[in-house]
Amino acid sequence: MSTVYHIPAMLHETIEGLAIKPDGVYVDVTFGGGGHSRAILQAGAGKLYSFDQDADALQNAIDDDRWTFVHSNFRYLRNWMDYYGIEQIDGLLADLGVSFHHFDCPERGFSFRFSAPLDMRMNQTAKRTAADIVNSYSEEELAKVLYLYGEMKNSRLIAKNICRARAQKRIERTEDLVAASRIPAEMSKELARLFQALRIEVNDEMGALREMLVAARDLLKPGGRIAILTYHSLEDRLVKNFLRSGNLEGTIEKDFYGNNLSPFELIEKGREASPEEVARNPRSRSAKLRVAAKR
Ligand SMILES: C[S@@+](CC[C@H](N)C(=O)[O-])C[C@H]1O[C@@H](n2cnc3c(N)ncnc32)[C@H](O)[C@@H]1O
Repeated sequence: MSTVYHIPAMLHETIEGLAIKPDGVYVDVTFGGGGHSRAILQAGAGKLYSFDQDADALQNAIDDDRWTFVHSNFRYLRNWMDYYGIEQIDGLLADLGVSFHHFDCPERGFSFRFSAPLDMRMNQTAKRTAADIVNSYSEEELAKVLYLYGEMKNSRLIAKNICRARAQKRIERTEDLVAASRIPAEMSKELARLFQALRIEVNDEMGALREMLVAARDLLKPGGRIAILTYHSLEDRLVKNFLRSGNLEGTIEKDFYGNNLSPFELIEKGREASPEEVARNPRSRSAKLRVAAKR
C-alpha cells in the first residue's frame, strides 16, 4: 500500500484561481490528503472549512486555529454553513472524485487491480456497496449506469454478462465482477470505466455535485471565487454548464441587449495540467480546472 495519501492536482493554478483574500472565509469541500487546504491557509485565508465524507481523511488533519474539519458529504454544505453561522463565503474549492488513498487501499474495493470485497463507498458508514448494486439492479438499470458514468459503448453487453453471471453466483468481490463482465484482463481501460461507473453510482457523485453547486452559488459573496477540478466528461459538462448559466439546466438567460445574466464571470474554462505536471503525476492527466467569480 502506498504511503502517499494524495498528490494534489494543479495546486498552483487552483490557488491562483481562488485569489485568496486575507481573512476571507473559504471552503474546501474535498479535503482528502489536505494538499489544497494547506495551500489555501498558506495563502492567508482567515478561516477554512474542509469537508470530507471519508473519515480516513482525518489522518491528514491540519494543526491550525483557522481550520475546521467537517466530516460530511458536501451535499450538506448549506446546512453546515448555517450551523457554523456563516452567511457568505469568499471562495470554494472542489477537487472531485476519489483520492489516491482510495485506489491504493485494496480493502476499499475501488480498484480492479486488487482482490477485495466489492465495496467502493467513500463514506464507510453508507449502506449501499457496489456489490449491492451489481446484484440488485435490473439489466437495463445497470446498462444505463455503465453507459452514463463509464461512457461504455458496449454497456448493454456488459450488463447482460453481469446479470448472467450473478444468476449462477452472487458477485461479492472485485475479481468476481471482472470475471462476470467478461472484459479481458488486458483491457484495463475498459475495466477502469466499469469500476468508475459503479463508484459514481455507489456514491451518488452526480447528485451530490448538483446540490453542492447550487449551495455554493448562493453562499458566494459578490467577487467570491469558485474553483472546481473535474476528472471525467459527465461531471465536467455539468460544471461547465452550471458556471456558464448559474443553473443546473444550463439555460443561459439574456437581457434585452443580449448580455448573459449568469451570476458568474468565467475565469478558467477547462484548463489542463501542464505536460511537466502530468509527467510527475500521471493521475493529473484527466484533470480540468474551471474557475468563476460571482458577479
Ligand atoms: C481528489 S480527492 C481531494 C484531494 C485533495 N484536494 C488533496 O489535496 O489531497 C477527493 C476527496 O473528496 C472526498 N469526497 C468526494 N466526494 C465527496 C462528497 N460528496 N462529500 C464529501 N467528500 C467527498 C473523497 O473522499 C476524497 O477524499
